[in-house]
Amino acid sequence: MIKKNHDKLQFKTLDNIDLNGKFVLVRVDINSPIDPYTKKIMNEFRIKAILDTLKELANSKTVLLAHQSRPGSKDFISLSSHTDLLKKHINNKVTFIPDIIGPVAINAIKNLNNGEILVLDNIRFLSEETNKKFAAEDTIMVKKLSNLFDVYVNDAFASVHRNHTSLIGFPKKIPSCIGRLVEREIISIKKILAKGSNKQIFVMGGAKPDDRIQVMDYVLNNKKTESRFLLGGVLAKVFLKARNQKLSTIITNELEEYQDIIPLAKKLIAKHNEKIILPLDYAYEENGERIERKIDAIQQTHNIFDVGDKTIGLFKQNIEDADVIVTNGPLGLMENPLFVKGTKEILGFISKNKSFNVAGGGHMTTMVEKEGLIDKFDHVSTGGGALLHMLSGKIPDPLKMLKI
Ligand code: 3PG
Repeated sequence: MIKKNHDKLQFKTLDNIDLNGKFVLVRVDINSPIDPYTKKIMNEFRIKAILDTLKELANSKTVLLAHQSRPGSKDFISLSSHTDLLKKHINNKVTFIPDIIGPVAINAIKNLNNGEILVLDNIRFLSEETNKKFAAEDTIMVKKLSNLFDVYVNDAFASVHRNHTSLIGFPKKIPSCIGRLVEREIISIKKILAKGSNKQIFVMGGAKPDDRIQVMDYVLNNKKTESRFLLGGVLAKVFLKARNQKLSTIITNELEEYQDIIPLAKKLIAKHNEKIILPLDYAYEENGERIERKIDAIQQTHNIFDVGDKTIGLFKQNIEDADVIVTNGPLGLMENPLFVKGTKEILGFISKNKSFNVAGGGHMTTMVEKEGLIDKFDHVSTGGGALLHMLSGKIPDPLKMLKI
């Protein structure tokens, strides 16, 4: 039976589409942090998050499309280990297919039975996924797969800010809707936005400064609320450079890749300097030990692997009287026990604060789970960039297409 849609949700959901016995293509985001040393998936958060949708497809022929990392990265791997983890959580027959649009995948899809799930391989193995040469609906991927399915479901919340082929191509061809995870995330974001806080703090680190600086630009220039950004990770290095801080050769080389965003960082510093809080000190390793130094005494051979104690203190002062805290991306190299301190202490501090606390992104949620802090956060999102994007009040294109 097709149920009534959530009153205030302006998107088509699983309630609006008949799924019984249908071939259903579901784009999920199970992109997971991979331990650089053991190569194992560090956290199942995103895998567990899609289970609600999969349970509702108990009488459908379901195929999952997903990505892991980006070409060229060390964690750009197949989805076979993701499939093994998924099998642990669901009773349906789940099969990994090491193919996406070739004959092996197409045959496996055609032979699916109700209640069975196929996981196709990393969608970013196909250059068409991110390549914008053709309109998404004209790609071989969309042409080949859309003929095989009755319904497309977008349950890839963490990717909804990407205009990639598997996210915008299929809704142009087949009846489409959002999945339960995306629905849950949208409802939480609406609640956060409705809170209309006076003082918002964003604690941001991680390795994707190009996405995060766009959010800073939007929030600092458009919001009426008082916002402040406490920065770690590569984003902090970008802003240190923009502030003309003397940096080490290693860092200068690392930042080559982000030259394009330095002018924007300079502009934001010129206009909002007091709202952008940068590390005062940093941690590095010497003879197997964590050593801390002041940022303005950085040595040529050093990189910044974590924020130091002075920065942790400064960040805590800024957090204390916040109404809303959004944290996204670790402040240091948290996979290394020597450099987990900054992220761990700040998360612990936030969890005791009376503010409305939100955590997002693969690494941050891993840490929140590991530290047993899930209950202390008002919302733990599967999205990193996607969460920030939507918290800036924007509706990304892949979701706009699924509006009622
Ligand atoms: C994420 O982890 O933020 C999503 O999976 C999107 O990945 P991307 O930043 O590589 O597009």
